[in-house]
Amino acid sequence: MEVHISLAGRRDLSGQIYRQLRSAVRDGRLRTGDALPPTRELARRLEISRNTVAVAYDRLAAEGFLRSRVGAGTFVQEAWPASRGAPAASPLRPRPVWDGVEVWPGPAAGLTWDFRAGLPDVRLFPYESWRRLMSAVLRPSALPGPGAAGDPAGLPALRAAIARHIGVSRSVRAGPGDVVVTAGIQQALDLIGRVLLEPGSVVAVEDPGYPPARMLFRSLGMRVRGVPVDAEGLRVDALPVDARAVYVTPSHQFPLGMPMSLPRRTALLDWARRRDVVIIEDDYDTEYRYGGRPVEPLQSLDGDGRVLYVGTFSKIMRPALRLGFLVAPPALHEAFRLARYVSSWHADLPVQAALARFIDEGLLARHIRASRRRYQTRHERIGELLARDFADRLAIVPSAAGLHLSATFPDGTHAGRPGEGPVDDAEVARRALAEGVGLFPLSKFAVTEPPMSGLVFGYGAVRPAEIDEGLRRLRGVLDAL
Ligand SMILES: Cc1ncc(COP(=O)(O)O)c(C=O)c1O
Repeated sequence: MEVHISLAGRRDLSGQIYRQLRSAVRDGRLRTGDALPPTRELARRLEISRNTVAVAYDRLAAEGFLRSRVGAGTFVQEAWPASRGAPAASPLRPRPVWDGVEVWPGPAAGLTWDFRAGLPDVRLFPYESWRRLMSAVLRPSALPGPGAAGDPAGLPALRAAIARHIGVSRSVRAGPGDVVVTAGIQQALDLIGRVLLEPGSVVAVEDPGYPPARMLFRSLGMRVRGVPVDAEGLRVDALPVDARAVYVTPSHQFPLGMPMSLPRRTALLDWARRRDVVIIEDDYDTEYRYGGRPVEPLQSLDGDGRVLYVGTFSKIMRPALRLGFLVAPPALHEAFRLARYVSSWHADLPVQAALARFIDEGLLARHIRASRRRYQTRHERIGELLARDFADRLAIVPSAAGLHLSATFPDGTHAGRPGEGPVDDAEVARRALAEGVGLFPLSKFAVTEPPMSGLVFGYGAVRPAEIDEGLRRLRGVLDAL
């Protein structure tokens, strides 16, 4: 244990060592069983006599703090409860913007049937290939030399691999230099806010929509406005006239799941051009497509360079990698590089290098193909069961992509309590949870009142064999309302 001791002057050196070690044990920095340096070694480090250290150790041992074992060394005998910590009394308080912010989707305690949206199946993660690639890149020759930091915009090999991947799979127009590697979509949104939007700017978001995005924009001092969506996606006619940015999920609206129609995409691009507005296109999970023809991303339909495309590896790999990216036009490259730098310099280099190889070796494409088949089976099974057993209560929102399906209670909105008008979806989710079934009510994603009422069925985390039983239990919950 490399314990830090600093000596002042030449007086009472044993006492100084004694007091510093004692307080390290008392406040929990040294814990039971931790080994202390041998007296000879500590004496050499502190440039004092060995006997001075031995006196301090003996005193600590006599008081029960340390124990010496012949031939083994000197160890901390007993831990004191940690009394060390930041002062509890402080005049400092967070800005009110942090009230009501919650970590999403939260812990899974007590869930047997986990239909929560936003989670991929981490059991499908290609652990073996990933281990191989990580050990291949953890060599001096595969990483920048000593003192050489990474490019804040990302490892060149990864930027090139991402540009190719999204060019082929999503027809996004991007060269390696247009890609900035980020810590997930969340950081891409943060960088966009810092680079392009003044505090106080109005940001239009879909209602219902993705909560972490609006929590982020609010925390940056933006004014967030919810815009309703219909079967064709965001209602362009309802956009606020003073919006400076529009954040949308056109491929697979979050949380409802329908794609934005082509006429609506064109209308949004026209609207943004006329008003000089930034469009943020979040393409979070559309590598998983189960039918129908994908509509062109806004980014490739846009002839004007005002769409910032953001993507993530959270769904196709694992959220724990915290890797995503944004695609920006050349005029913004340098500002994004600087924003990435001041934010947290750059993403983990070995992980970036491993992901670049994973893509280049064709493993990502293979992994997506294999997991798509698994997810498609779950998507279809949930769709069948909802159509068969819930048709009297829930209307499925047509969707052919992603990792979740949504369904609305037919009356659309809810009054707050079951038995008094439309269904209270939050109450349904609470009762389902008591049965071990986890799922999100649509109202959780609402920006404005009254929220849409319905349920979101994620199939990333649920085991396929458990889908039928989970939905049978949910049906029981609805019947008991
Ligand atoms: C709409 C939407 N955007 C982005 C993400 C992922 O973001 P990140 O890359 O920060 O993990 C999710 C995850 O659930 C999502 O639902």
